[in-house]
Amino acid sequence: MVGSRVGMRLGAVPAAARLTRKMMRHIGGRGRAASSFGGGYGQAMATKRKTAKKSASKSVSTQSARPATGSYTVPGMTLADGHQVGRTLQDRLNSLNDLAMTLKHVHWNVVGPQFIAVHEMIDPHVVEVRDMVDETAERMATLGVSPNGTPGALVASRTWDDYSLGRATTSEHLGALDSVYDGLIAAHREAQDSVGELDAVTEDMLIGQIAKLELFQWFVRAHLESTGGDLATTGVQDEKTAAKRAARAARSSS
Ligand SMILES: [Fe+2]
Repeated sequence: MVGSRVGMRLGAVPAAARLTRKMMRHIGGRGRAASSFGGGYGQAMATKRKTAKKSASKSVSTQSARPATGSYTVPGMTLADGHQVGRTLQDRLNSLNDLAMTLKHVHWNVVGPQFIAVHEMIDPHVVEVRDMVDETAERMATLGVSPNGTPGALVASRTWDDYSLGRATTSEHLGALDSVYDGLIAAHREAQDSVGELDAVTEDMLIGQIAKLELFQWFVRAHLESTGGDLATTGVQDEKTAAKRAARAARSSS
């Protein structure tokens, strides 16, 4: 399926990145911890965070002062093509890093009936997604592009919001996660389409990741599906509405 559907689609990479951001915007605002801290401890933490932010910015600017691309790429590809494919992966790296952290957040914050089933279902996903992060970053480096994996760079370059749910029921989190996977998988498919014409190896890596991500989404969706095959979240574009719909469906079926 390499290159079968698109021509020289690398010009579409910015569009893919835009799609990623658009589709993942509904991940919503998880919110900053700053407002939840009170008194002196809150002040101290705010100062710490400011320092950390400064440090992250410094790190990002130090990295950006040096070229992100090397003088090489893989044999058989032009330097321009190899680096273009590598740069395409930075947005996927950011999304996967974001997903790995979001999944852990859900693992810790899910409550209510089916807690243990959902709590324990999440961790194998985290392990697999962290492997995808590593695989993606190392493919970038192999192609001669420096992967940027710092939290500061991720936050600075992403345009989607943080995951919006804190402590919430299993149904709410699963509804929201379905929405998260919708955005991420669609963006992965766009990236796969974009690189397919130039680099079968990177395309193959993305296809493998998409298959696993779609499997994970099915695990999530199986909790939201009626015996008639309808999904509580069908047609929902944003994460908060997905959470509400999933909760409503759970209430009506109990
Ligand atoms: Fe745990």
